[in-house]
Amino acid sequence: SGYITLDSGYMNTGSCTSAITYLDGGQGILNYRGYAIEDLAENCQFIEVAYLILNGELPNYEQLEQFKRDMRRFALLHEDMIHFFDHFPPNASPMSILSTMVGTLHNFYPEMDDEDDPYGGITVTTARLLSKIRTIAAFSYKKNIGHPLVYPNAKLNYVQNFLNMMFDRPNMPYVIKPEVAMALNKLLILHADHEQNCSTSTVRLVGSAGVNLYASISAGINALWGPLHGGANQAVLEMLELIYADDCNFEKYIEKAKNKQDSFRLSGFGHRVYKTFDPRAKIIKEACHEVLGALDIQDPLLDIALELEERVRNDAYFQERNLYPNVDFYSGIIYRAIGIPTNMFTVMFALGRLPGWIAQWTEMKEDKANARIGRPRQVYTGHTLRPFVPMHERK
Ligand code: CMC
Repeated sequence: SGYITLDSGYMNTGSCTSAITYLDGGQGILNYRGYAIEDLAENCQFIEVAYLILNGELPNYEQLEQFKRDMRRFALLHEDMIHFFDHFPPNASPMSILSTMVGTLHNFYPEMDDEDDPYGGITVTTARLLSKIRTIAAFSYKKNIGHPLVYPNAKLNYVQNFLNMMFDRPNMPYVIKPEVAMALNKLLILHADHEQNCSTSTVRLVGSAGVNLYASISAGINALWGPLHGGANQAVLEMLELIYADDCNFEKYIEKAKNKQDSFRLSGFGHRVYKTFDPRAKIIKEACHEVLGALDIQDPLLDIALELEERVRNDAYFQERNLYPNVDFYSGIIYRAIGIPTNMFTVMFALGRLPGWIAQWTEMKEDKANARIGRPRQVYTGHTLRPFVPMHERK
């Protein structure tokens, strides 16, 4: 009861306090635990940034080594879980496979945090999930294309291991190019957290009901799947392909996006919080040129993306609404260059975002002062009380 303030889409509602990520949407600033993403993307390994996000501080050498040991220790999936992959229909979405498999981890590891002896905020459950999600993602791809599974290799680091499980084949060993590993490392870092976005808020909301971490993350994966959120990276690439196949008719798609009668939007443009160039998109755009150059790839879709960005920049509709490229606009061109299929793009986003989801879930659990189930209110617009109508009088 009482006066309810309606805030659809939570445009102006703070749902929590958080010390993980600082975001200034006006100036295009993004820091994790006080460190600029530009510095982290340039200098760190993804796993190091995951530690930072989870623990609050960058790991020293020993701490990082221990974390890496855990990434190797937990990389295998329970063999019984592997059979699950056989029973998804062909062409099942890798995002639905990912959320199902992550959710079911709880059946295999129900003990959760009680058994944990956390070091630096990292619990056994956290490390297990971070390590296994890679294996799940790569296995879902192998099953999808009908190839034999490639098991994790303890000699490889986090990113290399993922690439190897994705692309190694019997009699066709996969050579991990440093440019490819570096590009993927950078992308994962840039996706690692983004404060109270839709999937993170989902993880917190579901977690606030007291459910286990795996189930909460599984819910976050499903939220991320949406084309207005993480699914935009796949939608961008499909849109660029469409423009390319349509004789590069940019104006047609720009006009469609501006038409309010048409639900089509230019994927990869606009953001709830950034009203300028997304700082992640800036780094990814540069990385795009570097990786394609280093791999000697000429991708016409990069030219399409550059031209689309240019046209949008000069268009009054997009200027008036502060619609700039976001994180999803250029990432797909890099994924494509390194061989990741389009339907796996959002899975890559999930791999990157996992440390953020876990850190936010943990922060919520530890905030005892504000520990309440998430339960928004509503403004009721239905009938006032009316007399009951017996069946024989109903129309
Ligand atoms: N193309 C055309 N018009 C757009 C677009 C777009 N991509 N984005 C926003 N607008 C228009 C929208 O129609 C509205 O116009 P008007 O004021 O005339 O009604 C105005 O800009 C404000 O948009 P909004 O939908 O009220 O803004 P929002 O904060 O609710 O939505 C968004 C943010 C990201 C969902 C939206 O910009 C969008 O749909 N973008 C395309 C999908 C996309 O790239 N999503 C990825 C977001 S970034 C990372 C992530 O979360 O994965």
